[in-house]
Amino acid sequence: MSSLFHHAKPAEEIPTAAIKVDKVVKRFGNFEAVKGISFEVKDGEIFGLLGPNGAGKSTLIRMMTTLIPLSEGKAYIGGHDVEKEPDAARRCMGVIPQALTSDINLTVEENLSIYAKLYGVNRAERKRSIDELLEAVDLVKWRNAETKTLSGGMRRRLEIARGLVHSPRIFFLDEPTTGLDPVSRVAVWEMLNNLKAKRQLTILITTHYMDEADRLCDRIAIVDHGKLVVLDTPSQLKQSVPGNNVIEAQFLAPPEDWEARLQAFQDVTSVQSEGSGMFRVLTTNGSRTTTELVEMAVRNSVEIKTLTVQNTTLDDVFVHYTGRQLRDEQVKTFGFVIPPRPGMQP
Ligand SMILES: Nc1ncnc2c1ncn2[C@@H]1O[C@H](COP(=O)(O)OP(=O)(O)O)[C@@H](O)[C@H]1O
Ligand SMILES: [Mg+2]
Repeated sequence: MSSLFHHAKPAEEIPTAAIKVDKVVKRFGNFEAVKGISFEVKDGEIFGLLGPNGAGKSTLIRMMTTLIPLSEGKAYIGGHDVEKEPDAARRCMGVIPQALTSDINLTVEENLSIYAKLYGVNRAERKRSIDELLEAVDLVKWRNAETKTLSGGMRRRLEIARGLVHSPRIFFLDEPTTGLDPVSRVAVWEMLNNLKAKRQLTILITTHYMDEADRLCDRIAIVDHGKLVVLDTPSQLKQSVPGNNVIEAQFLAPPEDWEARLQAFQDVTSVQSEGSGMFRVLTTNGSRTTTELVEMAVRNSVEIKTLTVQNTTLDDVFVHYTGRQLRDEQVKTFGFVIPPRPGMQP
């Protein structure tokens, strides 16, 4: 049986994944911004590239979307080699670059219409697509408004719509919520989820926000210094870190050996001293460690200023795999003892 069809096999295997990058390298002069990254994105997935500024995320997106040449390796979008068949690759992708690029002197509809024409979308399809997209990004009422009158969040939503006017299968977004307020960020996430379901999109998004990657992505690749550090689902990533609860506690003037004493608790897997009496403790048993910690503080007459217990977050994953912290500005609660979350290990 197999011998019958053997000769029909194509010489070069065409990848079936929506996106495939294989040992991709990008050099700018002597500087290697991307150092041999490989991954595949499955059809219908929301895939996140998570990493700090300068990690190489935009450079990777620019190579995948045919904006800059690869120094080494291969990239396939929708099965098309971006270097051999750039036009075919471009036709199946929509791209939202990191900077806002809609024309502020045009109306919302004009911005969409120009792009649709640019991609050769016919009049009937243009109208249908623009109507549907304005609805999806909640800008129907703003259709005839000049783009300069929109807020940052609305303008980002317009650009998301614009990137989809030609009905691409694969959607690239570079830091889509950077600079947006928290409410607008959540609105963008909801819209991306709705659009993905409605249009059967595959989405690749870059972000330096942990919560964004966690909330939105089916799988996350952590990139740092041009390398792929680890790739998995958010929950698998969190489970891969030893210790599944995080206690953050701030003490008033703790003794010098405090960190060592926290480290000595039976369930504790790591302790980080963050200065000003603040400690971040990873433990496999949140409530037991919390009890021990409070008892130790009471025995030593050390005042606890704050105490929070959480499940492991992507922050901990990032620290675990890179040895460094990637933290957004976080809201801290002061002066309260916060009881362990329900669902935490007994
Ligand atoms: N055109 C360029 N010429 C030289 N260096 C560049 C260029 N583009 C990016 N870089 C460098 O490559 C690294 C990765 O940049 P970038 O891909 O923009 O990171 P990210 O998007 O993750 O913040 C940075 O050190 C940046 O300074
Ligand atoms: Mg970038």
